[in-house]
Amino acid sequence: MAPWTFAFCHSSKDLRNLHMPPGAHAQITGWGKALPSKVLTNVELETLVDTTAEWIYSRTGIRERRIAGPDESTFTLATRAARAAIAVADLSPARIDLVIVCTFSPEFGGMPSTASLVQHAIGATRAGAFDLNAACSGFVYGLAVAQAMIGAGVHETVLVIGAETMSRLLDWNDRATCVLFGDGAGAVLLQATDRPTGVLSCVLGSDGSGGELLSVPAGGSRAPASTETVQGAQHFIKMNGKEVYKFAVGALPRSVRQAAAQAGIALSDVDLFIPHQANIRIIRSAAETLDVPMERVFTNVDRYGNTSAASIPIALCEAVEEGRLREGQKVVVAGFGGGLSWGAAAIEWTGAHTGAPNDTGAEVQRPLHDELADTGSTVPMPAAGTWVQTLQQVDTQAIDPEWGRGVDPRTGNSIDAPPARLKP
Ligand code: ACO
Repeated sequence: MAPWTFAFCHSSKDLRNLHMPPGAHAQITGWGKALPSKVLTNVELETLVDTTAEWIYSRTGIRERRIAGPDESTFTLATRAARAAIAVADLSPARIDLVIVCTFSPEFGGMPSTASLVQHAIGATRAGAFDLNAACSGFVYGLAVAQAMIGAGVHETVLVIGAETMSRLLDWNDRATCVLFGDGAGAVLLQATDRPTGVLSCVLGSDGSGGELLSVPAGGSRAPASTETVQGAQHFIKMNGKEVYKFAVGALPRSVRQAAAQAGIALSDVDLFIPHQANIRIIRSAAETLDVPMERVFTNVDRYGNTSAASIPIALCEAVEEGRLREGQKVVVAGFGGGLSWGAAAIEWTGAHTGAPNDTGAEVQRPLHDELADTGSTVPMPAAGTWVQTLQQVDTQAIDPEWGRGVDPRTGNSIDAPPARLKP
């Protein structure tokens, strides 16, 4: 019997860990968020579309949302959130194995992926990178991928970012959608640990028969961009709000129950629930179905609206900042949205600096993927504790406000700008 098997066999509850090698659990050791400074209130929206502040608040719980400025985009927001998460974990970006950006409003229509841009901008020199699109469920899907990669022993450190500039996908003449969404990004850093903690379970689901209920009809292979698609406002979000609402009030509590059950925890033992922040009525309905008091449900939809894949990591961050999520506590996060898709995860919160195996401060020698891998050369990793300072130094200059051009924090060299940015 392998030593780790023996170590985990304390109780029947721990049986699920029997076949896990050391480092097979994924704990969150860093978190960060980025929000545009521009606030758009309901009252301001009254001047844009035929609506009232009162209608928006009473039907959704939203009072205001953040809107990206001309110099902000999914890439810049994602990069800011990633830097904040790396600083909390006090980890060299060169230790990150994989960068996942969960988004359906990526920097570019097809390629390069937003994740590759972020990977380069933060100096995650040995990381792979890809975008993941599961609409508003995206962050939970990203967590599931990270947990699986770490659990399988493929990776030790994975950065999962939820980032959206929804405002660029909104038809500002459509009052049924433009009042609901906002821009922002949140990020978490997951690291391998041999302790049975961190992400305890993930459940994912999809029902593509409801795909048309929430869609961006043009810009893909079915309807490539043309004068007609632009004139017909087909590149904006279309939503059947009533049907999505009905779907959400069922999928949300169902996935929460499944995630808790799979983790072996009772709902009464969950300290905090963090649902996707789409509509306070959906959240209240789910809480009622689950018989969970709203005191144990985190909400910030009033301030940010629906930021899609960014909503859960932003809320996670704020829950920690407000002292509502502390070490050892259990949190269930749950997303739902376009696809239709849904997902939930149960997490035991560990906090930063919990002794993840590759955050020891020791100097590690690892081959770089790109220029050094061919030669078999290695690059020394900065010791933990030194990186926060380095990040702070580059933070003010790393993103060129005019463009999103970056500075590689590893070399100090400027990063080539992406070829062209679509103007809103
Ligand atoms: N201001 C004023 N009136 C409005 C507005 C507005 N902004 N929007 C719609 N109305 C009107 C409608 O036209 C309708 O008028 P009518 O009765 O004369 O036809 C009336 O208000 C009621 O409309 P409903 O759609 O019935 O309003 P409802 O109470 O269902 O609320 C809402 C609409 C908020 C969109 C709700 O259906 C909802 O939240 N749906 C779920 C959306 C969601 O959660 N999406 C998440 C996933 S997003 C993702 O994955 C990208």
